[in-house]
Amino acid sequence: MSNDVELINSNPQHIAIIMDGNGRWAQKRHLPRIIGHNEGVKSAHKMIQYCTEKKILALTLFAFSSENWRRPKEEVSMIMSLFISTLEKELEKWHQQGIRFLCIGDKTAFSEKLQQVIAHSEKKTQYNQGLTLTIAANYGGRWDMKQAFQAMSKQILTGELNPDSLTETDIDKYLTTAKLPTLDLFIRTGGEQRVSNFLLWQLAYAELYFTSVLWPDFNQAKLEEAIICFRGRQRRFGHTEAQILNNQSQ
Ligand code: IPE
Ligand code: IPE
Ligand code: MG
Repeated sequence: MSNDVELINSNPQHIAIIMDGNGRWAQKRHLPRIIGHNEGVKSAHKMIQYCTEKKILALTLFAFSSENWRRPKEEVSMIMSLFISTLEKELEKWHQQGIRFLCIGDKTAFSEKLQQVIAHSEKKTQYNQGLTLTIAANYGGRWDMKQAFQAMSKQILTGELNPDSLTETDIDKYLTTAKLPTLDLFIRTGGEQRVSNFLLWQLAYAELYFTSVLWPDFNQAKLEEAIICFRGRQRRFGHTEAQILNNQSQ
């Protein structure tokens, strides 16, 4: 990137990442896919540390989609074990660093043990004021909207909610991301240029950044590149460029 890029935005407050490419990373090395997932966890740690240091408010990581159950049983079960062991290993350190841990997705499909570890991690860190680290697991953007519609419909039936006065901001409150700031920057590693049922509603005005780097090779420097790219983007939200420039010079 050239040095004369004019930075327009400040750092993103909320970054969400589709951590893709673990399997290919391992296959390229003739290793089992789970080794790629293990390496992927190391990349996730690097991102968490970077965001903590840079005082980013929220980092949301897509760890397991509602469609990933379609994978071979052994891979799914190893990913679940990795989730438990990572939480058990890292929780104390995250807590010391003031990280608030959240898990979004349909947790009812998880083992009793995993549900307990998640509940414990969320409870222990609930009042922390640092980075909000959200892991999306058994998450689907359509599922998120469906559960929001169900909750809203129930309240409409009991008369607690008036459908005629419903605003888009009200809808935000029913989504699993209600406690998070607006999504600014979406990153997908691994070369695919699709959303794969991640944060559908929340992506409305996020800046999109795709890189072919496989997730285990993604590191702080690469995240910084994505952030520099984000800062150089002109976010117009429907305005004209002249309006934006005029506003900046005031
Ligand atoms: C992302 O990496 C991790 C999960 C979906 C759990 P992949 O496992 O999808 O890696 P590729 O896309 O097969 O390389
Ligand atoms: C998306 O990656 C889900 C996660 C990274 C957890 P996938 O590898 O499952 O997505 P597709 O299948 O390529 O769309
Ligand atoms: Mg993949």
